[in-house]
Amino acid sequence: MTIAVATALGATAPAKPAAKTAAPVSKSAAPSKAPAKSPAAAKPAAKTAAPADTTPAPARKPYANVFADGPGRPIADGACLLCHSPMLVTQQAKDSAAWEKTLTQMIGWGSPVTTAQRDTLRRYLLGHYGTHPPTVK
Ligand code: HEC
Repeated sequence: MTIAVATALGATAPAKPAAKTAAPVSKSAAPSKAPAKSPAAAKPAAKTAAPADTTPAPARKPYANVFADGPGRPIADGACLLCHSPMLVTQQAKDSAAWEKTLTQMIGWGSPVTTAQRDTLRRYLLGHYGTHPPTVK
């Protein structure tokens, strides 16, 4: 396809050779592929490469990488950060039951949350990383 178009342009419009010399980089890559693949096979490859290059990443704030201030923060700092970053927690939006389930799982894996701390921690997590989290600046 590409070869056919270039040939047609060259044959019908003598002024076009200037455009051909302006793209030596793409032309140098093309000949190595062209003999092995048919023009039809080369076309889809060019199409799939284009969207990845032109689609911009969505702009958004990163999740906080420290726990929010509050009564549960010392507990979270002491019981959660020995295994993973706070961002794994701050990116959540769990309801009370889901936080309970997570705490059970984390404690089962070795998180040193005491029975006395657990309620305070769950309420803290729900308040800051619940299903309707407060706006974080
Ligand atoms: C003993 C190590 C350990 C401790 C301590 C720990 N975690 Fe985790 N946590 C993990 C591991 C491992 C994963 C990844 C699990 C996965 O990818 O399936 C994880 C994943 C998570 C996740 C994401 C997955 C989910 O279930 O939503 C949350 C939220 C979480 N931890 C919260 C906490 C909280 C809150 C604490 C403190 C009370 C804590 N973790 C303490 C090991 C730990």
